[in-house]
Amino acid sequence: MSGLLEGKVALITGAARGMGEAEARLFVAEGARVLIADVLDEQGQALADSLGANAEYRHLDVSDEAGWKAIMAEIDEIFGGLDILVNNAAILRFSGIADTSLEDYRQVMNINQVGCFLGLRSAIEPMKKRGGGSIVNISSVDGLKGSAGLVSYASSKWAVRGMTKVAAAELGPLGIRVNSVHPGGIQTAMAPGPDESPAMAEFVRRLPLPRIGQSEDVARTVLFLASDQSAYTTGCEFPVDGGYVNCRQLPGA
Ligand SMILES: NC(=O)c1ccc[n+]([C@@H]2O[C@H](COP(=O)([O-])OP(=O)(O)OC[C@H]3O[C@@H](n4cnc5c(N)ncnc54)[C@H](O)[C@@H]3O)[C@@H](O)[C@H]2O)c1
Repeated sequence: MSGLLEGKVALITGAARGMGEAEARLFVAEGARVLIADVLDEQGQALADSLGANAEYRHLDVSDEAGWKAIMAEIDEIFGGLDILVNNAAILRFSGIADTSLEDYRQVMNINQVGCFLGLRSAIEPMKKRGGGSIVNISSVDGLKGSAGLVSYASSKWAVRGMTKVAAAELGPLGIRVNSVHPGGIQTAMAPGPDESPAMAEFVRRLPLPRIGQSEDVARTVLFLASDQSAYTTGCEFPVDGGYVNCRQLPGA
């Protein structure tokens, strides 16, 4: 590893497992001090323990405003500010519009959209103290397209993409960059693998890069955006999707 994040302090939400876990592992390997935040306390603590002195676990429900206040106050006290925030925590619900209850819709919005907003807002002061920073918001290919059965999830991920651009415009003068990452089919607890689902196997077979994505594929793009390697990049969206969004196979090709 090349120490791309040497001396940086990073907070990753929803990092007890999946892509957030892969990002925590990679960030620590690249020299960062990482706060792993999640609601899965046992898994998050075990991950932090396995990563050594440069990783710590904290309980944070991203939809809880007071929780954000408390974690940022602690970061400020211990580290004197924050360099990197990855707004990764989210939930997924499948249902047609006609069958989606307001309660379910609001729950997804509360975690995926409000959680990201609270993270953005909470990071401003701690990042100003460090003279700037990088915020990476995890959206989805469903924040770039519309798929049947995903009204709450897709709406929340389009909102994440939109607030990324607003935040980039507002926070750029403070030296804070904000970009969004749009994973496609990535094998985690959230999405079934091709071995578990014939629909996923068919989806993968038709991709320009015909394999299921891995958390590490996403983590490497997030690392680039979190690090100074992307110092002149803000307000941009980065699909990590095997070519799903931007390419298509013509019939018979
Ligand atoms: N897996 C995919 O195919 C896929 C595709 C596109 C986008 N994404 C996005 O990637 C990100 C990571 O997803 P993943 O696939 O690793 O899924 P995952 O379910 O393994 O990870 C999500 C994490 O968020 C945590 N979380 C849920 N609610 C929370 C809350 N209120 N507060 C704090 N943490 C909370 C979960 O406990 C979990 O650890 C999410 O934003 C997801 O929407 C995933």
